[in-house]
Amino acid sequence: MKKRTITLAFALIALFAVLPRVSSQNSRKIQADIKTNTVSSPDGRIKLYFSTSWMGEPFYKVTVDGKPFINESGLGVSYGGSAPTGHSVDRVQYRWEQKELWEQPWGENKRNLSYYNEMKVTLLCGVATYETIYFRVFNDGFAIRYTYDVDNAVQVPVIEDNTSFMFAENGTAWWQPADADTYELEYKTTPLDKVEHANTPMTVKFDSGLYASIHEAALYNFPEMTLMRHPSDSLLFVASLSETVKGVSNIKASVNAYFETPWRTVQIGRKAVDLINSSLILNLNEPSRIEDTSWIRPMKYIGIWWGMHLGINSWTNDGRHGATTSEAKRYIDFAARHKIDAVLVEGWNEGWETWGNTQKFCYTCPYPDFDIKEVSEYAARKGVKIIGHHETGGNIRAYESSMDTAMTWYGKYGIDCIKTGYAGGIPGNFTHHGQYLVNHYQKVVETAAEHKVMLDVHEPVKDTGIRRTWPNMMTREGGRGMEWNAWSSGNAPSHTVILPYTALLAGPMDYNPGIFDILYENTRNLPQRKKWNANDTGDSRVNTTLAKQIANWVILYSPWQMAADLIDNYEGHPAFRFFEEFDPDCDVSRAVAGEIGEYIVMVRKAGDRYFLGASTDETAREIALPLSFLEKGRQYRATIYADGEKADWKTNPTDYRIMEKGVSASDTLQVKMASGGGQAIIFVPVAGK
Ligand code: NOJ
Ligand code: CA
Repeated sequence: MKKRTITLAFALIALFAVLPRVSSQNSRKIQADIKTNTVSSPDGRIKLYFSTSWMGEPFYKVTVDGKPFINESGLGVSYGGSAPTGHSVDRVQYRWEQKELWEQPWGENKRNLSYYNEMKVTLLCGVATYETIYFRVFNDGFAIRYTYDVDNAVQVPVIEDNTSFMFAENGTAWWQPADADTYELEYKTTPLDKVEHANTPMTVKFDSGLYASIHEAALYNFPEMTLMRHPSDSLLFVASLSETVKGVSNIKASVNAYFETPWRTVQIGRKAVDLINSSLILNLNEPSRIEDTSWIRPMKYIGIWWGMHLGINSWTNDGRHGATTSEAKRYIDFAARHKIDAVLVEGWNEGWETWGNTQKFCYTCPYPDFDIKEVSEYAARKGVKIIGHHETGGNIRAYESSMDTAMTWYGKYGIDCIKTGYAGGIPGNFTHHGQYLVNHYQKVVETAAEHKVMLDVHEPVKDTGIRRTWPNMMTREGGRGMEWNAWSSGNAPSHTVILPYTALLAGPMDYNPGIFDILYENTRNLPQRKKWNANDTGDSRVNTTLAKQIANWVILYSPWQMAADLIDNYEGHPAFRFFEEFDPDCDVSRAVAGEIGEYIVMVRKAGDRYFLGASTDETAREIALPLSFLEKGRQYRATIYADGEKADWKTNPTDYRIMEKGVSASDTLQVKMASGGGQAIIFVPVAGK
């Protein structure tokens, strides 16, 4: 197996420097430069030019460090009805220098700096229709949003988003085929000019070495955007809106006469990890609409979950039922003993017999062997939260008519955390990512906020940073998570070192890491095991080492972080101490090294402790890691969860070792990872400095 040695030449200076107090809302109006219609990033490195063609069509182009990055590319939205033709620039209104340090109740970083210049161009289309284009240019990328004020209309049928991206050079792209129903697909790594139709975020390393990721922010009342490569122009990508109903009409959305689109975003970095360290998506979202956020909290959880995916339990009450009163109590006891905040219970309610069929779930009807009153009272006595579960199977109408009652009913039992699910087709042929479903997901978020309920959404629409505005929207799946390893050929070792540079740029993911029985040795041959998923060929496993599972608790950010294995596989396991000690409520996060699809080193600070997670694809690596992110002049005890000498994801996945070391910010650690492996470290300051 190939082995790489990497030395991090750069110093990780001031990564965790204390940011000043939030106060600085500094908006300075600066003179528009009408001649050039240009707006630059505050550091001047990214420049965006706006103009109109001789036919009056608006376009933009972008340079980075003086070199072409995006050549002349289209702008705007096309809509039906009596859409006027011909545009003229009415005014290039403002360019702003906006600097704001803002706080959020939870997140990778509790404080974020939003710093950009803005150019606002208003076009007159026809006689009385106005199109306004907002360009915001940050040091770490740029974003474009449109608002329309359509004359003589009440409702406007949106046909397509015409934003395009004419990249100036080729590169390597990490992308997922666009699918309006699922994001649970493997990533493809291809030359940019070989991408077909991609979901976002799509991430690219350009031949010049620049990195970028294309996505969107603040998606409301609109379909998701995907990226379609132009059939004859290999580096031209055009936005494509997902359909509301499959194959029925060319109308992608229906909006009011005054409407605004989500932001179309391009994050730009000189290093791959710059993309992860960017808060651009959140910065483009509005501040919290929930005033009192004291009830919203990050958590660690376990759950009655993996047993069903492995096929040793079932969601239905069929003699192999997972969600029984006694099993829930056993999980609650384990959580209480191991410093775990919550227990997820799936399969507690009637209707699972109809999953994949009529999808008739009852959200207030526990199965007879699950006494919700007894379980919730027991949990409360032990100081453990219950995460309730609303699997809809895609039956949106039924869920919308019962969710309010269902949340009130959960409230009676003190349950204010809900995992939702949309595993199934939507009746009426609605897609999962079209306008109708975007609005549905939002309705659930807002209803939950009214009930002071926090959410974890599976089979969601992708994150676009709405958690800033709705911080009860904790986490979501939106990718191929751990479940795939239970009943399919699974996720390749590279998958979890692609995710942080792609899907996770959009927001947290409830991946469900932490499987210790990697080869299912304790369950594979149990007599009650039944195949339940068509993808199951009987030889599933997790394609990982044990240390990498631990590292993924740090790397794959979710404010609700799960230890996904059966508790029996954790009981008495020395490496489980990492999860006990782990704090999901981090204050600051930094990706300190990595390359897309190859490896990543992530550091998160919570209180005065630091958690480090490093992981690699199939290539074994050794990284010389300067510990300059630690507080200077302080001594730390590092507890290192490393791959064992003979570890290898394929042949020896469970070989691991735990080491202790005294370290300080001036030290450099050798982080050694096996093929498909990883490493996790907790740094605890030694008392008395
Ligand atoms: C798919 C979800 O991703 C998984 O976590 C859940 O257990 C099943 N659906 C059943 O709801
Ligand atoms: Ca799923």
